[in-house]
Amino acid sequence: MSTAAIELREVEKSYGGKLVVDRLSLTVAPGECFGLLGPNGAGKSTLTRMLLGITPPDAGKITVLGVPVPARARLARRSIGVVPQFDNLDPEFTVRENLLVFGRFFNMSTRQIEAVIPSLLDFARLGNKAHARVADLSGGMKRRLTLARALINDPQLIVMDEPTTGLDPHARHLIWERLRFLLSRGKTIILTTHFMEEAERLCDRLCVIEEGRKIAEGRPQTLIEEQIGCDVVEIYGGNPQELSSLLKPCVQRVEVSGETLFCYAPDPEQMHAQLRGRAGLRLLQRPPNLEDVFLRLTGRELEK
Ligand SMILES: Nc1ncnc2c1ncn2[C@@H]1O[C@H](COP(=O)(O)OP(=O)(O)OP(=O)(O)O)[C@@H](O)[C@H]1O
Ligand SMILES: [Mg+2]
Repeated sequence: MSTAAIELREVEKSYGGKLVVDRLSLTVAPGECFGLLGPNGAGKSTLTRMLLGITPPDAGKITVLGVPVPARARLARRSIGVVPQFDNLDPEFTVRENLLVFGRFFNMSTRQIEAVIPSLLDFARLGNKAHARVADLSGGMKRRLTLARALINDPQLIVMDEPTTGLDPHARHLIWERLRFLLSRGKTIILTTHFMEEAERLCDRLCVIEEGRKIAEGRPQTLIEEQIGCDVVEIYGGNPQELSSLLKPCVQRVEVSGETLFCYAPDPEQMHAQLRGRAGLRLLQRPPNLEDVFLRLTGRELEK
C-alpha cells in the first residue's frame, strides 16, 4: 500500500480528441500543502476532479489516501474535503441547512452535524450567519461557507480549487491562517491557485502545469532560486523595446510584459548607471518571487 497521500502515475485525459492532462505524474506526502499552478485552461480543475473520482482518467493510475481512484473513490471521499472552483451551495437554504444537508452525504446524524456546526461557522467567521439564506450572503461569505462545509467530515485531505478567488484581502489572510491551522494539525492540502503570493506562503511544494503537462515542480524558494536567482528591476514609463535593447548588455535577461520591462539584474548598479539622466522612468527593485517564475515558465515573452 502506498504511503503517499496522493499518487498519480502517467495520468491522461482528453476532451473531444484534445489532450488536456498529458501523462502527468506526481506524489503528495501526508501533511504536505501541495500547489497546482498553471494558466487558465492548463488542466488543473480536470486533475482535481480526477483525484475525486468525478472525472475518470483515460489512462494512468491514481491513488488517494491509499485507495485506487476512481475504482474506490467513494471510500476515499469519506476522508476528503472539497472546495470546488465554483461554489455549489444551495442558495435557497440557510447556512445551517446547507451544512446539515452536506453532513448527511457522510452519513452523519443530525445530532452529529449540529454538534460541529458552531465550530465550523466559527472557523469561517460566519457565526452570526447561521440562519441567513445563502442567496443573501456576499461572494466572500459563500466562499468561506464552502470551506467550512469541506471540513464537516473532519477530512484528512482537503482538495481546494482556487479557494480565495473573489475574496477581499482580509478574508484571504483569514483563510491563509485557517489553512495553516489545518496543516499544523497534520492535514494534507492540495491547493490550486492563481495567487502566487498564496502559493509562496502556503505550499511546501508545487507544480506548474501548462497544456496538461508538468513543466516544473519543487519548493517555491527553490524554484525562485533556480529560475530567477537575482533581484528583479521593473521599469515603467519608457519605451520597453528601446530600453530593452539598451539594458541587455548589462543584465542577465530582460523581458517585456505589456508596458513593463522586467530586468533580471545580478548587478543592478550597472543598470542604474546605464539609465542615468533619463527622465520619466519609474524603477522598482525587488527580490524575485514566484510570479516571476510563473511568468517566465508560462510564456512572458523572452527577449533574450
Ligand atoms: N467537461 C469538459 N468538456 C470538454 N472540455 C473540457 C471539460 N472540462 C474541461 N475541459 C477543457 O479542458 C481544458 C482544461 O480545463 P480545466 O478546467 O481543467 O483548466 P484549469 O487549469 O482549471 O483552468 P482555470 O485556471 O481557468 O480554472 C480546457 O481546455 C477546457 O476547455
Ligand atoms: Mg480551474
